[in-house]
Amino acid sequence: MIQTRKPVSLLFCLALSLSFIATLRPAGAASRAPARGKQGMVASVSEIASQVGVDILKRGGNAVDAAVAVGLTLAVVWPSAGNIGGGGFMVIRLANGKSTTIDYREMGPAAAHRNVYLDANGAYIPESSTFGHKAAGVPGSVAGMAYALEKYGTMKWAAVAEPARRLAAVGFPVWYQLEQSLKSGRKELSRYPESKRIFLRGGKFYEAGEIFRQPELAATFARMIRSGPREFYEGRTARLVQAAMRRAGGWITLEDLKNYKVVEREPLRSTYRGYEIITMPPPSSGGIALIQMLNMLERFNLKELGFGSSASTHLKVEAMRRAFADRAQFLGDTDFVKVPVSGLISRKYADQLAATIDSHHASTSHDVGHGDPLPYESEETTHYTVVDKAGNAVATTTTINDSFGNKITVEGAGFLLNNEMDDFAPKPGSPNAYGLIQGEANAVAARKRPLSSMTPTIVLKEGKLWFAVGSPGGPTIINTVMQIITNVIDHGMTIQQAIDAPRVHHQWIPDEIVYEPMGLVTDTMNVLRGMGHNLVDRPRFMGDAQGIMIDEKTGVRLGASDPRLNGRAVGY
Ligand code: DON
Repeated sequence: MIQTRKPVSLLFCLALSLSFIATLRPAGAASRAPARGKQGMVASVSEIASQVGVDILKRGGNAVDAAVAVGLTLAVVWPSAGNIGGGGFMVIRLANGKSTTIDYREMGPAAAHRNVYLDANGAYIPESSTFGHKAAGVPGSVAGMAYALEKYGTMKWAAVAEPARRLAAVGFPVWYQLEQSLKSGRKELSRYPESKRIFLRGGKFYEAGEIFRQPELAATFARMIRSGPREFYEGRTARLVQAAMRRAGGWITLEDLKNYKVVEREPLRSTYRGYEIITMPPPSSGGIALIQMLNMLERFNLKELGFGSSASTHLKVEAMRRAFADRAQFLGDTDFVKVPVSGLISRKYADQLAATIDSHHASTSHDVGHGDPLPYESEETTHYTVVDKAGNAVATTTTINDSFGNKITVEGAGFLLNNEMDDFAPKPGSPNAYGLIQGEANAVAARKRPLSSMTPTIVLKEGKLWFAVGSPGGPTIINTVMQIITNVIDHGMTIQQAIDAPRVHHQWIPDEIVYEPMGLVTDTMNVLRGMGHNLVDRPRFMGDAQGIMIDEKTGVRLGASDPRLNGRAVGY
């Protein structure tokens, strides 16, 4: 082409090839272009679940109807995290401007108390809060989804639950990530015969392409469709849970199930460089820590320092260190303990914290204890995001804590239970399964909710929905969401680029930066070490974010699913 004789055709060809290149790279440096939908969009870890959500939207359902259908479907198609035996948080922003959050976090059974995981000498009993019946909190997922549907949805429970029942009964083709996920659970699921039988096919592992049917789970959905969602808490399903607990010395009783309570809470709100942040309050620590970090970072010019530079990475890590130190000290279920929420998220407090950050030297976590906010006022988890035609948005993160929860399938009911009790501080002051130090504010108690890191978040621009996002990943969730927000706002990335971009994580203790494989270049690592930072020996991937952004000019919904687990956003 360059040898074309006439200059006019040279220009023409050049223009053509430039536009060709432009169409070749709509994703910029992202893993793929975001999915596009003029009307609605669902982003989740499973294409099947995203499609179920889009089908509900196409039938005239709103974002809440679709979110509930997606949540129930994930309990069938993504059993390591999708669940009816766990809990979650839903952040909703309606097109009319109202925002709210639904807290359906698990609750401590009546028999739980502060020292329940400690032996007579006060030492933690190994695995007591992570495996087996006593690790399970009272599940909130069914109640939470039913509450959201009843109050903010438009469709009937039976209609949104039917796709999940059908997928469990008829089965669906196992896809590669699911095959891998099930195989990764082989050792731990094998401890419990019912879990081994269902999820590992007795040891003949499912391969991609094979059909996975779950008749007991289908029957549970059928009961909940026939009798309504309370069936889970008061009907045969509840009795099956209690029977499983009784057989193995677990704690959850019919009374516990009947008394489970969903709580609708005011979202936490703040702004970051003028953009409004709407996020989850306690019992999540995520919203508070996210806002604290953004407040600190607002004092620095991250845009000028650039994405991935040692200077910007250093500042982000220092903000993480300080927010996690406060998390350990102050945070717990606000229905049980006083948490200085407005002090922690105040800009005045952020000024104090940011003033302790040296732009050129790492602090040590030893020196950075928790701060002194203003006085007290009175693998696996999964995230999905939905935006509908009207502009209603739902960001939901749901979990049974570890991959496959406590690994126990309720006999006869076909679903796994959570091990969320480990999100309490089983022994205040000692690290839990995520190495997180947590204090008395998060000690175990009956009917209390364990502190979470789940951070479903919605961001507005000039008062209008801009994007919604969240992720699994235990404590890394908060930092993942923070980095996606700064990637978009400071580093000018598209939603897909922001989700793809390598992440770092610091949680105060241990005092080290976790980074992703190929996530930091050697030069940056060397400078960070020179500043006094410790970097982990082995990098690892973090999170699985699912986001949706509204294209400001066209209103098109741009769906972005994290390449780390290869989920799918589906739009229409
Ligand atoms: O609520 C929490 O913070 C944890 N139970 C979340 C666990 C999690 O994200 C595991 N995922 N990879």
